[in-house]
Amino acid sequence: MNFRPVFVALTIAGALIVAAFAVSSRRPAAVVDQPSAALVRASGKCAECHSNQQFSIVHEYELSVHAQRHVNCLDCHRVVQGQQGRSHHDFEITTRVTAANCRACHESVYQQFLRSRHAAPAWAAVAGDEPFSTEQVAFSEQFHPHSVKRPPHPLAKLEGKSATQSGCVSCHSIGQPNVDGTIGSCSACHSRHTASVELARLPSTCGQCHMGPDHSQLEIYAESKHGVMFSAQRRQLNLAAHPEKLTTRDMFVPTCATCHMSGLNGLAVTHDPSERLSYNLFAEVTEPRPNHARARAAMQEVCSNCHTQPLIDRVYAEADAVVASTNSKVVAARSIMDELRRDNLLGKPFEKPIDFEYFDLWHYYGRTAKHGAFMGGADFVQWHGNYPILKHAVEIKSLAEELRRNHGKTP
Ligand code: HEC
Ligand code: HEC
Ligand code: HEC
Ligand code: HEC
Ligand code: HEC
Ligand code: HEC
Ligand code: HEC
Ligand code: HEC
Repeated sequence: MNFRPVFVALTIAGALIVAAFAVSSRRPAAVVDQPSAALVRASGKCAECHSNQQFSIVHEYELSVHAQRHVNCLDCHRVVQGQQGRSHHDFEITTRVTAANCRACHESVYQQFLRSRHAAPAWAAVAGDEPFSTEQVAFSEQFHPHSVKRPPHPLAKLEGKSATQSGCVSCHSIGQPNVDGTIGSCSACHSRHTASVELARLPSTCGQCHMGPDHSQLEIYAESKHGVMFSAQRRQLNLAAHPEKLTTRDMFVPTCATCHMSGLNGLAVTHDPSERLSYNLFAEVTEPRPNHARARAAMQEVCSNCHTQPLIDRVYAEADAVVASTNSKVVAARSIMDELRRDNLLGKPFEKPIDFEYFDLWHYYGRTAKHGAFMGGADFVQWHGNYPILKHAVEIKSLAEELRRNHGKTP
């Protein structure tokens, strides 16, 4: 018997099996790992078409904890109450996946989110209360008085629809009303198919919206000791740690999420960042929030996982002083504006140059000084904060005198 052809045939067959295995293992996991008939129908089928056409989307899904836990395409794209279904290659799907689809499995997260300023208040800040139901307005108002029941922002009207849509709305859509009666977009921080905590813990994720002259949190963080340490040691941090098990061993340097949301060393994770905020720093004149003491204790509890109390007390005492002095500077400028308005020397909002001087004073520089003081941004307290406040205060005085002169009144 001649063994050679048999040996060659076996070798070739073996090589083919290895090659076939290599090819199949490179195919999307969603197609190969099919533990149940339901998954074959959902992930398998969807991915078969979509991995050819939108590789990135299927790939992002494959990288997700959802894929590991066999949450499939249809679990999110399933039509829930209030959504318009669409018939799509033997499936009934929704193309608009909203918080309604996520809450089916993450109800408690949704409830925390709904209480937060990231929900209805964020949208109402631009569009006012009109798009919300009476129940939705009442719900948010109990946590954040006057933050939903209000008119649309005057700038949104003055700048026009195209500017508002691609500008304000892109950031404030984090709290958009959805057709299915839910509020908000979870993808703003988790992305759509990645749905990851690792992404949400990155400063750049929050910084998509929390940046620029009116809320320079990303820039402040970048120049703070925390931000510098984060860039230096990012690779040593375990950014993907499970939220319920996150410790300072995983995150020994804080990011935005650590201070505002994470459950470090056994603290509770929250989707309502207001829980740890004692002031409304974004306001023209900052006041303590109703939950001032509780919120302060909650944030300081986060700091104390990494610091001693004397350091924390020093930061808070210095920042309290910046809040008080910024308030008095804003109040002084505001009283000039109030007097001009009383004497009918101002027109509609944002009509006169002095309106912009005053708006910039509190909305850019006042906020920036206060945020800088709490989050370690010395340059923002000084050169992007107090210095321009001083400059604008001088300009406001001089513009006010000019307005009075032009109207024949004594300055
Ligand atoms: C037979 C191939 C095929 C299958 C199976 C398939 N799709 Fe699609 N899908 C497409 C094509 C082609 C498009 C783009 C054209 C269109 O909108 O129909 C698309 C579009 C979509 C869109 C975007 C539609 C829009 O208007 O924004 C979503 C979302 C989607 N598919 C999800 C799914 C989900 C979820 C599944 C499984 C439940 C699935 N698809 C199964 C081929 C497929
Ligand atoms: C964690 C929930 C979730 C899962 C799981 C999920 N999707 Fe999506 N998908 C979304 C969201 C959110 C959107 C954005 C919908 C919108 O714009 O309203 C989206 C949009 C899409 C789109 C349109 C995107 C575009 O950029 O044009 C396609 C196509 C799609 N999904 C296919 C899939 C496929 C295929 C799978 C499975 C491999 C899948 N999705 C799994 C949440 C999910
Ligand atoms: C069918 C149920 C289901 C749906 C629908 C669903 N999820 Fe999940 N999600 C899960 C499960 C299960 C886990 C894993 C939980 C665990 O490991 O503790 C998870 C985990 C997560 C995580 C943590 C991921 C990580 O990196 O640890 C995030 C974030 C998340 N989901 C967001 C979403 C968002 C946003 C949506 C809607 C677009 C959504 N989920 C829809 C079931 C679901
Ligand atoms: C780059 C993203 C971004 C854009 C663009 C943007 N905002 Fe904001 N806005 C934010 C963030 C982030 C905050 C929260 C600031 C804070 O708390 O320090 C905020 C806060 C606000 C507030 C104060 C909070 C409140 O509820 O009263 C108002 C009002 C507001 N924005 C209106 C607008 C309007 C109107 C536009 C467009 C003319 C706009 N924003 C454009 C991100 C943005
Ligand atoms: C402002 C950004 C942001 C938004 C919006 C957001 N998340 Fe998260 N989410 C986070 C961060 C940050 C974490 C991780 C917290 C930590 O470090 O442990 C997280 C964690 C999670 C987890 C895992 C933690 C847990 O308690 O199981 C789930 C699930 C989740 N988010 C779902 C959602 C859903 C659903 C929505 C929409 C209703 C949503 N998220 C909206 C930032 C966000
Ligand atoms: C898509 C845009 C967007 C993203 C991404 C985003 N935010 Fe916000 N955030 C906003 C807006 C808009 C507001 C202002 C809402 C209001 O007060 O009207 C806000 C407000 C806040 C506030 C102030 C809440 C209060 O009670 O005054 C904190 C703190 C905050 N965000 C933290 C975060 C953190 C941490 C992340 C990342 C994990 C994040 N945000 C991601 C848009 C965003
Ligand atoms: C070391 C902890 C820490 C880090 C890191 C941090 N913050 Fe803060 N943040 C604070 C403290 C403390 C305050 C003020 C708390 C108060 O009002 O009592 C604050 C205030 C804020 C506010 C102001 C809300 C208002 O009242 O207007 C926003 C928005 C915010 N932070 C967003 C961010 C974002 C975005 C990042 C990351 C780029 C970040 N923070 C990083 C601790 C932190
Ligand atoms: C997850 C850990 C962690 C948390 C939470 C944290 N920090 Fe830090 N912080 C650090 C690290 C690490 C350093 C650099 C420490 C060193 O080199 O000794 C630092 C440095 C600082 C510094 C600079 C000290 C100096 O003189 O250089 C200040 C101020 C500070 N943190 C304040 C705070 C405050 C206030 C909070 C809470 C709002 C806070 N931190 C929360 C880890 C943390």
